[in-house]
Amino acid sequence: MESIYVLPQTHIAPENREITLENCIGKTVLVIGSGGREHAIVDALSRSPQVSRIYCAPGNAGIGQQAFNVPLKDTDVEGLLSFARDNQVDLTVVGPEASLAAGVVDAFRAAGLAIFGHTRAATAIESSKEFAKELMGKYGIPTAAYRSFSSYDEAVAYVAGRPFPAVLKYDGLAAGKGVVIAQDLEEARAALASMLLDEAFGKGRVVIEDFLTGPEFSFLCFVDGERVYPMPLSQDHKRAFDGDKGPNTGGMGAYTGLPFITEEDRAFAYENILCKAAAAMAAEGRPLSGVLYGGLMKTPSGIKVIEFNARFGDPETEVVLPLLESDIYEIFEAVATGRPAPEPRWRDGVTLGVVLASKGYPGHYDKGFPIAGTESVDGCVYHMGTAFRDGQLVTAGGRVLMVVAGGTDVADARERVYREVAKIHCDNLFHRNDIAHCALEYHG
Ligand code: AMP
Ligand code: GLY
Repeated sequence: MESIYVLPQTHIAPENREITLENCIGKTVLVIGSGGREHAIVDALSRSPQVSRIYCAPGNAGIGQQAFNVPLKDTDVEGLLSFARDNQVDLTVVGPEASLAAGVVDAFRAAGLAIFGHTRAATAIESSKEFAKELMGKYGIPTAAYRSFSSYDEAVAYVAGRPFPAVLKYDGLAAGKGVVIAQDLEEARAALASMLLDEAFGKGRVVIEDFLTGPEFSFLCFVDGERVYPMPLSQDHKRAFDGDKGPNTGGMGAYTGLPFITEEDRAFAYENILCKAAAAMAAEGRPLSGVLYGGLMKTPSGIKVIEFNARFGDPETEVVLPLLESDIYEIFEAVATGRPAPEPRWRDGVTLGVVLASKGYPGHYDKGFPIAGTESVDGCVYHMGTAFRDGQLVTAGGRVLMVVAGGTDVADARERVYREVAKIHCDNLFHRNDIAHCALEYHG
């Protein structure tokens, strides 16, 4: 087994991956998306001995150092399809839920092209909260009790008779903003009015569910029908500032090696949540063929589902995939073509990743600040929102970079990652200093 200290490096120029005599039978892969998650997918693919050319649509500045960026939007289904046909793409891998919801998998399949990702029908497990809740109810998958409403008056009447806090979820894709934890009736009314009367995210229903407590964690699996291949557990940090304070973000850091989830918990979640959900989706005629992401909580009454996602998580992917020892192309290709995949092998040790974000994020922030030092980082540097301006790397988004280091345990990985983060210099970035605090504060 390779040492965890030597995480794969993320600095290989795409021209190094051009077809040569030795790899002229190599595969061409198209990755759809443009964030840190897609950079981690491209990075994992670039370690495959079978892959000789990687395209990413639209990609980003960091991805462009390892793959060929293609200027196509991730929801431009026709454009992506033509590109894949014209460029002899052997396999396409979908990152974002928006591409899945736009039907990119259905279109590729109809055209006879291999693609890793769920059909639109299967993506409902993420895109419709109500569908997911009904599925869990029908198949006995543990989750918070709920009711769903399209009428504002009925929703208010229901929530008024329930304990607070109450959890209100818009039933559709809402770019991570569709969940409100209302502390009292006044807050609940305001949120319901915005979702059901003003239709802030469009016309839709609202799921109202009981508030659960306990540590949250992410359980990602590769799923092909009823075959479920687990990845290492991870934990995201959604709040902007240390101590889980400040506004919600797209994720400020993540790590693997969760001490508060026992092997028994993991086995329970695998059998009774992930495998059950995969079997349920197959039974409903919506078989899965990509990543199933269980957003889970360890509550005092057992492990329960907070949400399912139909894709790799961000920033979880950036800490999970560097641990993959197996050839990711083989897994993607097997799932895409409905064949059994070899059981994925994972490295020993853990990973920890810290996001560097623009000051002001997730609110207003400025762009275009020069970034120095990424090339001296010992570990992975995944780009989230960067650009090259006259050859200089500059900030170009809210979340800008994620630095990932490996270690023997969480404390070791944390020490290493902050040492590496300190090598990156930029006038307009901030990061959390307490990633994995839950793990380090946990004492059995
Ligand atoms: P979701 O988009 O469903 O993941 O919800 C966003 C966040 O809201 C979750 O990561 C949780 O922190 C919180 N949340 C959602 N549902 C519940 C619940 N039933 N009880 C407590 N917190 C919740
Ligand atoms: N890390 C949260 C998500 O990917 O939805």
